[in-house]
Amino acid sequence: MKKKILAALLAAAMTFAIAGCSDSNSGADTSVQDIKDKGELVVLTNAAFPPFEYMDGDQIKGVDIDIAQAIADKLGVKLTVTNMDFDPIVDYVKNGRGDLGIAGMTINDERKEAVDFSNEYITTTQYIIIPKDADETTFDPNGKVIGVQQGTTGDFVYASEEIEAKEVKRYKSAVDAVADLKAGRIECVIIDELPAKKLAEQNADAVKAYDPGYEPESYAIAMKKGSTELQTVVNEVLKEFADSGKLEESIVAHTSNAQ
Ligand code: ARG
Repeated sequence: MKKKILAALLAAAMTFAIAGCSDSNSGADTSVQDIKDKGELVVLTNAAFPPFEYMDGDQIKGVDIDIAQAIADKLGVKLTVTNMDFDPIVDYVKNGRGDLGIAGMTINDERKEAVDFSNEYITTTQYIIIPKDADETTFDPNGKVIGVQQGTTGDFVYASEEIEAKEVKRYKSAVDAVADLKAGRIECVIIDELPAKKLAEQNADAVKAYDPGYEPESYAIAMKKGSTELQTVVNEVLKEFADSGKLEESIVAHTSNAQ
């Protein structure tokens, strides 16, 4: 009897010690087992960001969705993709309302306080979309009415690049921002390189995109803090995706497929 109690105490102490070493204080990491148990990987995204995620009819497609599928396959579970506003994704992941946030999400210090990130899988920068007849060699966002997608790095860029906007209008999606640019309600849109290029191509009659030379940034996958095992699996899949050339293939395919 005594032996049994001692063993139980020892086991408890060990669990405590292991938990103490990890970043999380909520006990041992069960991130992978939890997903396997429920048989489903829940990925949160905002499907208004081609080629990374976009709607194709009623289906969500994109580079991030291909990566999500590869992670689900590796875990041997079904993939469920939830389309939502971009801004609250980090909070949802933090609170366990989804397993992964895969949304062309840039790593930054503020987000790193709330969630853990995988390794980086894309390096990019912010572009500016302007009316077709404007001159990108002299265009200056200072003093302009700027459109951004709420809660994205495009929304923070004028602070880090010290832009004094006349006004910043925040939209739920870059698609809506570009529609307002076309209608003359704003003067430019600041958004990530590939979505900017795609949106400019889709609206080539009225707008164009250019690189103003802002700081580079990197995309990574967000997960709940302390999900070390899940992080390992995600990093493995990202590495396989990049090494096999699938990442490049997926970017090319979705860039031409997104309408
Ligand atoms: N890279 C930017 C950020 O992290 C924009 C991401 C927007 N993603 C999307 N799926 N709408 O803030």
